[in-house]
Amino acid sequence: MSEQTSVDHEKVMQLFGSVFNDVAGSVAIMMSYLGDQTGVYRAMDKLGSAGVSAIAAEAKVDERYLKEWLASNAARGYVSYDAEADKFSLTPEQASVFARESEPTCIQGLIQGVVGQFVKEDVAIDVFKTGRGRPWGEHHECCFCGTERFFRPAYAGHLLDEWIPALDGVEDKLKLGAKVADIGCGLGTSSILMAEQFPNSTIHAFDFHGPSIEEAKKRANEKGLSNLEFFVSDAGEIPKNDYDLACIFDAWHDMGDPVGIAASIKETLSKDGTFMVVEPMALDGYANNIANNPASAMMYGFGTLVCVPASKAQSVGLGLGPQAGPSKLMELLSEAGFGNVNLAAKTTNNLVLQARG
Ligand SMILES: C[S@@+](CC[C@H](N)C(=O)[O-])C[C@H]1O[C@@H](n2cnc3c(N)ncnc32)[C@H](O)[C@@H]1O
Repeated sequence: MSEQTSVDHEKVMQLFGSVFNDVAGSVAIMMSYLGDQTGVYRAMDKLGSAGVSAIAAEAKVDERYLKEWLASNAARGYVSYDAEADKFSLTPEQASVFARESEPTCIQGLIQGVVGQFVKEDVAIDVFKTGRGRPWGEHHECCFCGTERFFRPAYAGHLLDEWIPALDGVEDKLKLGAKVADIGCGLGTSSILMAEQFPNSTIHAFDFHGPSIEEAKKRANEKGLSNLEFFVSDAGEIPKNDYDLACIFDAWHDMGDPVGIAASIKETLSKDGTFMVVEPMALDGYANNIANNPASAMMYGFGTLVCVPASKAQSVGLGLGPQAGPSKLMELLSEAGFGNVNLAAKTTNNLVLQARG
């Protein structure tokens, strides 16, 4: 029991207000998910300023529910309401965040990922209480699509223009024709980007989650890429193939034995090959992240629900978590046997580490 016995009512009300706002936000997230999945935001983006009936007709949703939904969204600032004309619209900024998939600020992937966590809340409680692992594949499929949708803009915006150029000598090799392994590739977004950009290179993409690999193959086939192949494989069992570049995007901390896996990846590389590890942005140190990293509440939340359980479900079960920070990540890469490790790049959402030698 806490030592302080008297309650500061003002502080209680401040905390209550702050949590109340979070709860309102969580309802708004569910509203936003409905709008995304039924195409209401996209219909609004297409129509411009419009009344409830017109939006309902364009999105093919029930008009009465839509009226309620629009009010909730307008009160939250997600859509705009002109009370005099009784019409709703999206500003360009609202459209960018809620309706336009191709824009880097589209947040629907993250929302989808969060909603997916609420679907099997009984499993989350059991995992949390018992400490058992929860394999990646046991999550609702929103987790896979939401993850891909959320990460895609960062990869599309930074992988080819910033992260690969930040690695010593790698871009030139890829242009000429190199062998690349994309490990823990999920739905294959990073693999597809690299295969498109570097047609002389061969990309082998691996993930142990069969349904993700099936979806990744479908996406690559639609693009007609002949230099990209997908394999169902554990990250620790990648064949020795003298890869010039091995990479892991937002997945190393999900693995049970990141050090053992990095050591085995080292064996798959050519003599002067590079291992690129892309991890979520984090600061060094638990207390430092809590105090100074604005994304840490969300990231430790995903760590609790997804990343640490995914790691604990595998052998060793280190449970590194998504907020390890650059120093710890570099220490683990050194422990895996890499002699030359550095932080090659940093972007809003990611840290990019380079390991060689
Ligand atoms: C957060 S997702 C990231 C997927 C993808 N790299 C991306 O950025 O979109 C983590 C991925 O790592 C994969 N994964 C986790 N542990 C693995 C392991 N030991 N071997 C292979 N894949 C693994 C999961 O199946 C999942 O697809």
